[in-house]
Amino acid sequence: METIQLVVFGSGGVGKSALTIQFVQGLFIDFYDPTIEDCFRRALQVDEQPCLLEIIDTAGTEQFTALYDMYMKRGQGFLLVYSVTSKNSFDELAERREQILHVKGAADERDVPIVLVGNKIDIDYEREVTTDEGRKLANEWRCPFLETSAKIAHNVDEAFYTLVREVRRT
Ligand code: GTP
Ligand code: MG
Repeated sequence: METIQLVVFGSGGVGKSALTIQFVQGLFIDFYDPTIEDCFRRALQVDEQPCLLEIIDTAGTEQFTALYDMYMKRGQGFLLVYSVTSKNSFDELAERREQILHVKGAADERDVPIVLVGNKIDIDYEREVTTDEGRKLANEWRCPFLETSAKIAHNVDEAFYTLVREVRRT
């Protein structure tokens, strides 16, 4: 079976772990326990083709960022997550993407499978990033874009499936 290594990046608290656990285990983690590093596996079929996903759930917290280069070398696809309730988390993704393109030595940005994800859309009253802003950034980056909620399991599978399709496309 095809094994695909995915990496989830984004600032602290945006919901990387919640999305990953919702995807792998089908449950929502309500409390906040900052990640150092976690690895999850899920076998599944995307477009009738089986694959084994290995998902690295990274730390958003600054003190663990030394490991980022290693994840970027090893990873085949990247979920770049911000929270729609945090403009800061949205702005911080540009640097992460630049770093990925640099580590991958990509001549064309379309060669690196990336999906942009705006999480926490269930708390709309705290929104700081509009859907249009997310869409615009994804257009600029020429990558797929989804808004998700790990809490109500909205678009969570779709985000990971889309990333698998991007990996297969490149
Ligand atoms: P680090 O591991 O520190 O980088 O953070 P993280 O990105 O993994 O965030 P985590 O998944 O731990 O979520 C942080 C907090 O936000 C937790 O209390 C989650 O329950 C909450 N949370 C995550 N996703 C959602 C969501 O879609 N909606 C709501 N309402 N809360 C969420
Ligand atoms: Mg986490």
